[in-house]
Amino acid sequence: MIQTLEINLGTRRYPIRIGQGILAGLSSCLDSRAVWVLITDETVDEFYGKELVAKWKGSTIHPIILPPGEGTKTFHQVETIVSRMLDLNVTRDSGIIALGGGVVGDVAGFCASIYLRGIAYVQVPTTLLAQVDSSVGGKTGVNLPQGKNTVGSFYQPEAVVIDTETLSTLPRRHLISGLAEVIKYGVILDYDFLTYLQRNIGEILSLQPGVIEDVITRCCALKAEIVIADEREAGLRKVLNYGHTIAHALEAVTAYDTYTHGEAVLIGMQFEAQMARELGLIKPDYLNEIQSLIQASGFDPRLDLTADLLEGLLGKMTQDKKNRGDTISFILPAGEGRTEEVLLTKKEARGLLQRL
Ligand SMILES: NC(=O)c1ccc[n+]([C@@H]2O[C@H](COP(=O)([O-])OP(=O)(O)OC[C@H]3O[C@@H](n4cnc5c(N)ncnc54)[C@H](O)[C@@H]3O)[C@@H](O)[C@H]2O)c1
Ligand SMILES: [Zn+2]
Repeated sequence: MIQTLEINLGTRRYPIRIGQGILAGLSSCLDSRAVWVLITDETVDEFYGKELVAKWKGSTIHPIILPPGEGTKTFHQVETIVSRMLDLNVTRDSGIIALGGGVVGDVAGFCASIYLRGIAYVQVPTTLLAQVDSSVGGKTGVNLPQGKNTVGSFYQPEAVVIDTETLSTLPRRHLISGLAEVIKYGVILDYDFLTYLQRNIGEILSLQPGVIEDVITRCCALKAEIVIADEREAGLRKVLNYGHTIAHALEAVTAYDTYTHGEAVLIGMQFEAQMARELGLIKPDYLNEIQSLIQASGFDPRLDLTADLLEGLLGKMTQDKKNRGDTISFILPAGEGRTEEVLLTKKEARGLLQRL
């Protein structure tokens, strides 16, 4: 069964389609265009891209295949892609298909937003993280040596097509990484969903059909609600940062090569839930619920917070682009399905984290 969500941003609206095996019929569920550019990475190309191109019908498709990994999110890569598109005479009425994880989605979306001042694109996410998070919301971008996602655009796709079957080839580590964001939605927005996750975590990790579609649909609906209310991150969208203040700092101090983003988020959510408890925002029982769900993800979120590591994290947290003034912004759980933004000075954050 295909589930469809409508994202309605006033003047722009687009569907998110979620189903098992729907990649095979991708050409028939897209708007008719004479030319498509398929942007993917080498790994995803081997699993899905080659077959898609081989069976493509009714229009021309030009594959552009990138090296896999975060290293691909660069200006250099963007220049290579758009130059190739110019050489292929790709015109304004063509479209881009972004087939892959968040890296492909972010780079391809950014290229779509600037190529000939903007052409249509479709997100076809193949990692759990991309299916529940990065493909929805229209944030695109690349990294600079100075920081991750420092250059980019808000640019909504024409459609998002999610084939849950692609998760069958995803390495378990990346599956768990995506699960971090799934758990995050439960904590910040939807307590019913949190209890559903507690009951079904085994089924989710074993990708049980039916359950995985429901989980992805629920997450996309929750993210869509936030994006519709706050497309450009003026306020509400900040709730999505639960676990992320610590996660981003941890990723930065470990040079982005120790933890996946989701693993860092699991660690961050663990600490930030404890901070919420310490500040009296949540009760011990609720803290336990959050912690057991995090642990049930299959990743051990414990971290030995040495004095050096703490100082390193605080240093990075004070540079976070979401901060205001001299304080560090934390989005902390504040009850079932609710969060609160807590602004702490570096000294306050240090004191609090030392007490945990
Ligand atoms: N735009 C946003 O709103 C947003 C939100 C969150 C994260 N992001 C970005 O997303 C990126 C991380 O995304 P990611 O975790 O998907 O990483 P990724 O795109 O690097 O994919 C992870 C790995 O899995 C491989 N892969 C992808 N799909 C596969 C499949 N079905 N089977 C087997 N292997 C597969 C990829 O080749 C890659 O090696 C980061 O750059 C992050 O900044 C963006
Ligand atoms: Zn995240």
